[in-house]
Amino acid sequence: MSPGRHHPADAGFPAARPRRLRRTAALRSLVAQTRPAAADLVLPLFVKEGLREPAPIGSMPGVVQHSRDSLRKASLEAVQAGVGGLMLFGVPDERDATGSGATDEQGVLNVAIRDVVAEVGDATVVMADLCLDEFTDHGHCGVLASGGTAGTVDNDATLVRYREMALSQAAAGAHVLGLSGMMDGQVGAVRAALDEAGDVDTALLAYTAKYASAFYGPFRDAVEATLSGDRRTYQQDPANLDEALRELALDVAEGADIVMVKPALPYLDVLRRVADEAAVLGVPVAAYQVSGEMAMAEAAFANGWLDRERTIVETLTAVRRAGAGIVLTYWAVEAAALLRRTP
Ligand code: PBG
Repeated sequence: MSPGRHHPADAGFPAARPRRLRRTAALRSLVAQTRPAAADLVLPLFVKEGLREPAPIGSMPGVVQHSRDSLRKASLEAVQAGVGGLMLFGVPDERDATGSGATDEQGVLNVAIRDVVAEVGDATVVMADLCLDEFTDHGHCGVLASGGTAGTVDNDATLVRYREMALSQAAAGAHVLGLSGMMDGQVGAVRAALDEAGDVDTALLAYTAKYASAFYGPFRDAVEATLSGDRRTYQQDPANLDEALRELALDVAEGADIVMVKPALPYLDVLRRVADEAAVLGVPVAAYQVSGEMAMAEAAFANGWLDRERTIVETLTAVRRAGAGIVLTYWAVEAAALLRRTP
């Protein structure tokens, strides 16, 4: 039944007259199918090596690069607001060809993981970005092939680095590793490394369908990306959907604990298909409302063109309705408060 529609005729009885039912807030709430909640949201956080004070990110209003101290504070605030998890990204001082900062115990991200785990511990899910792009001087998600075409990522050499990175992030205490590099076989390689180390507790969030998207633009400011060129040789083509389902099957077979679609709003059709298949496989689904999605809306809010609170809640509702049980969003803390008020 949907409120306000008439019922089909029962044999012998006249059909109910079409009528308008008064859709009160209480009735709307009673029949609502989608209820985004703070506990479903994951807040991405950036921490920059050597910062004393948090530094604003021009293209991401309200988002900052954190210092070690401000990161701890922001993590605690998010947990207190009821947000379900944190995703950490590090911005190192120095970068090199192999991204050695990613596996340095004193590297910015590994230090941040230990700080946040010390601050909030098991009160939340601490996730870490497992990718080399923040740590390489060329800005690609992996190491480059020597002697190959300029700028070509060496998939298998990158897997070796991802295995090392997984072990250092797990040692630092991360609960979930976010495999965002889109290398073939990355989930299996990292799972095997953890298994060999006797680690059965660290979970893997696979960026299953990660599209080569213009919507990551502001994120590249946030991590001061050095990339020239693009990632089209290893991220997915926005024109395609079927390969997302193929990636899903592979990621699940390789041991992914959570699968993700990214970006979110421009890819709701992909999300729905992935969510339907993942339900059969019994794997939770996340979606990443990326930097460009929030920057686009923030620009409209600043101009008074969109209503801030309604837009935030509506976008999160849409992403949840399309099948994501978990949503990564830069609005997580603000949304947590809004969702408490929204019936
Ligand atoms: C890769 C990574 C990116 C994002 C998350 N992880 C950038 C990329 O693939 O180019 C983008 C997230 C966003 O735009 O908010 N480490």
